[in-house]
Amino acid sequence: MAEYKLMKVCGRAKRAEFTTVHGTVQTPVFMNVGTVAAIKGGVSTEDLEKIGTQIELSNTYHLHVRTGDETIKKLGGLHKFMSWNKPILTDSGGFQVFSLADMRKIKEEGVTFRSHIDGHYIFMGPEESMQIQSNLGSTIAMAFDECPSSVATQQYVKKSIERTTRWLDRCKKKMQELNMREDTVNPHQLLFGINQGAVYNDLRIEHAKMITERELDGYAVGGLAVGETHQQMYDVLDHVVPYLPQDKPTYLMGVGTPANIIEAVDRGIDFFDCVYPSRNGRHGHVYTHHGHLNLMNAQYELDDNPIEEGCGCPVCQRYSRAYIRHLLKAKEMLGLRFCTLHNLYFYNHLMEEIREAIDSDNWDSWKKKTLDDLNEEKQ
Ligand code: GUN
Ligand code: ZN
Repeated sequence: MAEYKLMKVCGRAKRAEFTTVHGTVQTPVFMNVGTVAAIKGGVSTEDLEKIGTQIELSNTYHLHVRTGDETIKKLGGLHKFMSWNKPILTDSGGFQVFSLADMRKIKEEGVTFRSHIDGHYIFMGPEESMQIQSNLGSTIAMAFDECPSSVATQQYVKKSIERTTRWLDRCKKKMQELNMREDTVNPHQLLFGINQGAVYNDLRIEHAKMITERELDGYAVGGLAVGETHQQMYDVLDHVVPYLPQDKPTYLMGVGTPANIIEAVDRGIDFFDCVYPSRNGRHGHVYTHHGHLNLMNAQYELDDNPIEEGCGCPVCQRYSRAYIRHLLKAKEMLGLRFCTLHNLYFYNHLMEEIREAIDSDNWDSWKKKTLDDLNEEKQ
């Protein structure tokens, strides 16, 4: 029910089209993070359309604890609920449970944790995660995985990837069952597997082989950007991506800065998601092609220029740095909204530039120039 069409390759960088029941996504692509079916910073579904968003991401865990996936199913599923008719990817809940909720007991069956909303005990395993994602009716469901800490021992991580693989088999079986049910919101729901293995390249490769055998609709690399250095992250990608099928989408979860994204595209990644553009926007940090600015700084008090000259976003078309700084200082919601909108446009547009560079055989020189201009701190 999904088709991944590889259109161009430059070294390892891929340019593709991924077609789903909710429409086609041009990759490499950035997924805008709407954890609770809302982009933080007061950005609406309509805004997302205006800034060229192709695909949105929501979270199983958050929607389960509030407002509840069964309620959303009764309302026709997540697409109808938030009035978004393009693809939606839902993360499986595993990672959020490990990072947010008061964990926990991990057992073969799944994970027990306390809700961060009201403290009550919840159990989630592969079947529960698939059931919730099926109730939400997202386009792409993610497998339920364990994301081990970046300092976990090799011995622990080995056991963990073996369990994550057993969980993957249970996810696949449950999803096939759910997709066959008559009252299913999206009978064509896709399933992506998640590669783990911390920074142990041999375990990463072993796990990549295991998940590839399961023939999934796409493959994510998880467990990164959790405390390792950028170089360690690139090193994992260098080792693991060659073991994932080239004719399926690849997704680097929770990454990252503009430079991280460019480096990961160069290593064969198609899909990205990250809270940076919205989270930084809410603090007045805005992205430009020459690094980021903090609009709270005094130097912008009399600055009549847009955030970035030449930016096509709705904010830069009309408002100055000085005005946005004033809104932020006055703690007006509008200031946060403007910064978030600009940042999301920046990320979506960066992906468009990436696609154009690959399409026009310009990838290597575009990459070098853009990384130099961005001037992000090297780690
Ligand atoms: N988001 C960022 N990293 C991860 C991960 O390792 N697993 C899942 N499920 N989600 C993530
Ligand atoms: Zn802008």
